[in-house]
Amino acid sequence: MVQYAGYDELIKKICEFKQDHVFKYWNELTEGERKSLLKELMSVDFASLAGLFKETQAEAGIDVDFGPAPFIPRPKNLSDTAWQKAKAFGEDHIKAGKVAAFVVAGGQGSRLGYEGPKGAYTMSPVKNKSLFQIHAEKIKKYSMKYGVAVPFFIMTSDVNHAATVAHFEENEYFGLHNKDVFLFPQNMIPSLDANGKLILSSKNSIFKNPDGHGGSLTALRTSGALEEMKKRGIDTLSYFQVDNPTVNIVDPVLIGYHHIEQAEVSSKALIKAYPEEKVGSFVRWKDGREGVVEYSDLPKEKMFEKNADGSLTYAPGSIAIHLFSREYIERITSGRELSLPFHVARKKIKSYTPEGFIEIDGFKFEKFVFDALPLAKKSLIIECLREEEFAPVKNASGIDSVESSQQLMSDLYKSWVRARGIVLPDAVKVLEISPIVAVAPEDLPVGMKIPAEEKVYIG
Ligand code: UD1
Repeated sequence: MVQYAGYDELIKKICEFKQDHVFKYWNELTEGERKSLLKELMSVDFASLAGLFKETQAEAGIDVDFGPAPFIPRPKNLSDTAWQKAKAFGEDHIKAGKVAAFVVAGGQGSRLGYEGPKGAYTMSPVKNKSLFQIHAEKIKKYSMKYGVAVPFFIMTSDVNHAATVAHFEENEYFGLHNKDVFLFPQNMIPSLDANGKLILSSKNSIFKNPDGHGGSLTALRTSGALEEMKKRGIDTLSYFQVDNPTVNIVDPVLIGYHHIEQAEVSSKALIKAYPEEKVGSFVRWKDGREGVVEYSDLPKEKMFEKNADGSLTYAPGSIAIHLFSREYIERITSGRELSLPFHVARKKIKSYTPEGFIEIDGFKFEKFVFDALPLAKKSLIIECLREEEFAPVKNASGIDSVESSQQLMSDLYKSWVRARGIVLPDAVKVLEISPIVAVAPEDLPVGMKIPAEEKVYIG
């Protein structure tokens, strides 16, 4: 057994949990390296990890005693009184400086073949802007439109924090004041190999993965972000994923409904295009709690279940856009670590050997933010349209790819132009409108001229 003054208890525990292979290279380590390994191991919750590994060996099941969650349908005619009332309420709320934007961006662009923060991936159809640039420019536009700063909270992870900060600094925060942009990393959790053992990522460190976007709620507290919001008088946080360039980040209608109905969490739903679409389903359990069941967990019979009119029973799908009340996050994280369940993903993991890395089978553990939804005393869901708010960039090709996202963006901008009665020349195949010009059709100046070119950027 290795020895190191002051760490006897820890070393004993590591041996008890049969994880002492982490000391395999102990004799080759310098004093500093030994200390850094021990410090890292100090933060590991060995008992919880053992419990998680046990769960990987059992057949995981979810409570399937649920039906579809009710939602507020999007009216055919947007002049609908309740819709307009919500919009007006929401606009006043934004103008009062009570709303902040929050993006979860702890992931890498690996699925796109890009080894950097996913948010730094450049993809807009004409200007090739990064996802972060698109989001930041929208936020700048909201600030201009509503005459108030909309703070931008960005959750990164240890894997991409430095690169994300560099992306914002090199680009001068895309026109935002850096005092209104808050970047903070989420927590990490060790991964395990197929036998439940910690995996070495070097001679003196263990492999960890970000703890999932469900870790964001705890990270908001531990990073001081919640405190900052309180200081600024923010009571509503608009949560979204970095991979969706058409997200309506600050939506007055959603904000209005959220406050009028006194919800703690409000979410956006779209009607699923087909039963197996890879979005979570909104459900309501027997005891009245509402939440999301991930597509991979939705039982097949429910996935294909239909209403009498032939429509899907579990039609409302989650696009991971939620509005959280600040006080709700404060309440559920008051014990600091919010205990949401961990979901297990079987992944190939790079394990260190002196001859180079080898890929082994392992388990990564992640929390999902939507598991916090059932903790809300009151929640609501409103319908939105795919073509207006959902163009995710997840895959290198095919469904939810860069290509499909660019097409959806261009189509959306064209629809705004038409809605404003602006002439769109037939020659225009691809159109991109800078968020600084418009985040909604009504922002476009009537009488605007669009050049008859194949690719047009309005900026
Ligand atoms: C997600 C949702 C799905 C939803 C769909 C909509 C989950 C499990 N599934 O799927 O219900 O319908 O999006 O597009 O959430 N992230 C972090 N830290 C982490 C892990 C992820 O910040 O530790 C961020 C990523 O950067 C990304 C977002 O969370 O912005 C989504 O993560 P991802 O793993 O890509 O979820 P999807 O499987 O695409």
